[in-house]
Amino acid sequence: MSFLSNLSWRYATKQFDTTKKVSDTDLEKILEAIRMTPTSFGLQPYHFYVVTNQEIKDKIQAAAWNQPQIGTASHLIVFTARTDFVANNNEYFELMSGGNADVRAKLKGFEDMLVGAVGSKNEADYLTWASKQAYIAHGFGLAAAAELQIDSCAMEGFDPVAVGELLGLPASQKTLVLLPIGYRAEWEAPRGPKVRFSKEALFTFVK
Ligand SMILES: Cc1cc2nc3c(=O)[nH]c(=O)nc-3n(C[C@H](O)[C@H](O)[C@H](O)COP(=O)(O)O)c2cc1C
Repeated sequence: MSFLSNLSWRYATKQFDTTKKVSDTDLEKILEAIRMTPTSFGLQPYHFYVVTNQEIKDKIQAAAWNQPQIGTASHLIVFTARTDFVANNNEYFELMSGGNADVRAKLKGFEDMLVGAVGSKNEADYLTWASKQAYIAHGFGLAAAAELQIDSCAMEGFDPVAVGELLGLPASQKTLVLLPIGYRAEWEAPRGPKVRFSKEALFTFVK
């Protein structure tokens, strides 16, 4: 099947078959798609948790209106935004420069520009900015799963503070959105045809 037909095949799965697990090879592909996400300035202000521990999944489910996608998922990917701009910025430029001080010095103009453009945001604006990047990663993960015919469900219906506490997140990481993945339970069927606005309603061509 093509990428587009896989996007049509996928749906927000409510219950996974607990006897079927996503293989390490397929998980690796999904995580690699997430890792390859483009970000503003390349800064990658996010971190991801891949939860397979059943007890923790069950506790997260309890903090998510008891939605069964979480407890029944093969893997639960938790998307968080990083808000520690200084540390993240430093990590990024160390990576870019390969730890070489001379190379890093040559990148100073770019670094200063980035500090000016991004580092000057207040905390709330910075979190919003970082969250946008994390949601792109979430879309990449969801699409990569569909491409492998692995089911998933985008999920925002949970208490982000409670989930952050369950995972022991540092104060610099904020839980945003979940992506449980697995294989749809046999008895579950997609809820009829997809509901999407028409192309005419969604796209305006400016020629
Ligand atoms: C950001 C986001 C958050 C969502 N949160 C939930 C959720 O908490 N629980 C749920 O069952 N579905 C959730 N959904 C799934 C949507 O309801 C679903 O994607 C939408 O109705 C379109 O249907 P489809 O994904 O089956 O094509 C979420 C989707 C997105 C994109």
